[in-house]
Amino acid sequence: MIWYPYEQMKTMKAPYKIVDADGVYLYTEDQKLIDSVSSWWCMIHGYKHPELTAAIKEQADHFCHVMLGGLTHEPVQKLTQKLESFLPGDLNYCFYSDSGSVAVEVSLKMALQYNTNQGRKRPLVLALEHAYHGDTFKAMEVGDDEDYHFAFDKKEGVIHIPTEIPALEEAFANYHDQLNCFIVEPLLQGAGGMRMYDISFLKRARELCSEYDVLLIFDEVATGFGRTGYRFVADEVLPDILVLGKALTGGYLGHAVTVASQKVFDAFYSDDDRKALMHGPTFMGNPLACAVALKGIEIFEREDYMSKIHRITEISHREMDGFTDPRIREVRIMGGCTCMDVYDPSTLEGFQQFAYERGVFSRPFLTCMYTMMPYIIKEEELIQIYDVMKEWFRR
Ligand SMILES: Cc1ncc(COP(=O)(O)O)c(C=O)c1O
Repeated sequence: MIWYPYEQMKTMKAPYKIVDADGVYLYTEDQKLIDSVSSWWCMIHGYKHPELTAAIKEQADHFCHVMLGGLTHEPVQKLTQKLESFLPGDLNYCFYSDSGSVAVEVSLKMALQYNTNQGRKRPLVLALEHAYHGDTFKAMEVGDDEDYHFAFDKKEGVIHIPTEIPALEEAFANYHDQLNCFIVEPLLQGAGGMRMYDISFLKRARELCSEYDVLLIFDEVATGFGRTGYRFVADEVLPDILVLGKALTGGYLGHAVTVASQKVFDAFYSDDDRKALMHGPTFMGNPLACAVALKGIEIFEREDYMSKIHRITEISHREMDGFTDPRIREVRIMGGCTCMDVYDPSTLEGFQQFAYERGVFSRPFLTCMYTMMPYIIKEEELIQIYDVMKEWFRR
């Protein structure tokens, strides 16, 4: 039996069975659906992209996997070289892993050991209220996602603050000599409820982190590759460690990367073996994943995805600004994300099937009816998503 994610298996409704997928569309036996959530926000180029599929096939003809322990290969070398120039500042040191959660774990491990390698004991992590950083244990701990991880409420060693500058300044005033890092989902907190906040908060965080040598970690697993309307939020405010996943491979294979700056890397670079980073997922730097990631970045640049995203943002404002209903708390739009936040989650019960019948796959959660569309979406397809969302309230 398949044990499905985030489900009470006893009461879950049967999932829709997908038999094919192409462009922005998912196909079941009886329906053609626009994937309004890009398969958990990763499928930015759409399904069955000929160049991405070819990149995987081509690499598969050589070899599908070799470990990075004691071995290396061209796909991982080329991707790393590309990331070095594609990513801002001195974010040049790429540690690969198989999922966003693991890449977050690696970033937190780096931050802790960055300090111990320099003979400093700094046990605390600063994080945001409503944060979501993945489902592994340390990621759950720095997360503040009661709705997901209610069964695991241990939060030792983590301080959670709201996205407000006075709270940030107070946390640094009280704990600066105990903090090893401040980890954030920059500008857009996804799974915690599609919460959006101002860049001034991150700029102040950068100043304080630099002042007290606390590492600033941007978890851009969800926000990276244009989702906020910035290519990376890291282009605007430079973190010490950047975590990427999801769209890194265009969603074609599970892979992630933790990218460290020079300062972080230098704290590990030593004649002393005990200062090395002791981590090594079996599938890190998987050649198929690296080959498809490299091709995905090439397409992202060549086809000027940032202008596609800006167009999506314009259409989203045109279609959704001013839409109100007494059940809606707020409509929020940022880059390639639009969220209708309702007061009561029961307002959204039945919406998924309603959308299905109108040709849209949606997966509302908490109080959020939202879309994080593939960037290749056409204007009429995006309008169809918004029409279905609005129709639910107009019935
Ligand atoms: C911000 C953020 N970090 C980490 C993760 C975990 O990534 P993965 O599901 O690949 O483990 C997610 C997944 O949604 C995420 O949104």
